[in-house]
Amino acid sequence: MRTHVVDHPLIAHKLTALRDQVTDSPTFRRLADELVTLLAYEATRDVRVEEVSIHTPVAPAQGVRLASPKPLVVPILRAGLGMLDGMVRLLPTAEVGFLGMIRNEETLEASTYAERLPEDLSGRQCYVLDPMLATGGTLAAAIRFLTDRGADHITAICLLVAPEGCARLEEDLSDLDIPVTVVTGAMDEKLNEKGYIVPGLGDAGDRLYGVVH
Ligand code: URA
Repeated sequence: MRTHVVDHPLIAHKLTALRDQVTDSPTFRRLADELVTLLAYEATRDVRVEEVSIHTPVAPAQGVRLASPKPLVVPILRAGLGMLDGMVRLLPTAEVGFLGMIRNEETLEASTYAERLPEDLSGRQCYVLDPMLATGGTLAAAIRFLTDRGADHITAICLLVAPEGCARLEEDLSDLDIPVTVVTGAMDEKLNEKGYIVPGLGDAGDRLYGVVH
C-alpha cells in the first residue's frame, strides 16, 4: 500500500479553514468539495486511458480517452457523499456505486449496512471516497468488499489520515497483490481515545450534514 500526502499550499490553506471549528456547514461542504477536486487530480494520475484518433479543425491528431470499463467512484456513506460532486466534476463519465459502512462507537469495528455496486468489478479501477482515515477499520472493510468482487486497482481519497489508520490498512490488506493507494491532504498526529483524529476536524459527517440525534 502506498500513502501519498499531497503537499500543496492551496490544499493546506483549504484544510486549515476546514478544520477550524468556527467554519459553518455550508462553508465546510464547499471546502470539502474543492479539496476533493484538488486531491482527485493527483489520485487519477494512474487512471487507465486508451489511444484514440481524432481530427482537430486543423489536422488529424492522436489523443487518449478514459478506457473501458470506466472507473467506479465509491463514496462511503454518509460522510463520503460530501466528496462525490468534487470527484465526478473531474471524472464526469465515471460510474458511481454506494457503500454504507457504520462504525460501532464502542468496538470501533466497521460493518456494511447498505450497498449499491455492480456484482462484478473485474478489471475495474475504483476510487473510494472517505474523508477520515481514522482507525482504518471502515476503509479496510470497504476495500476488501471491492476486491472480493474483482476490483484490481484501488485508490482511496481521504481529506485527513491518522498514522494508526494507515498502519492498520497496511496490515489488514497485506495479502492483496493489487495496487492500493491512499491519497490525502494531511497525515495528522494520532487518534484520541474515542478514535477521533487529532487535531483532525471533528466528526466529518456532522460537520457536513449536522448532528443526527
Ligand atoms: N471520523 C470522523 O468523522 N472524524 C474523526 O476524527 C474520525 C473518524
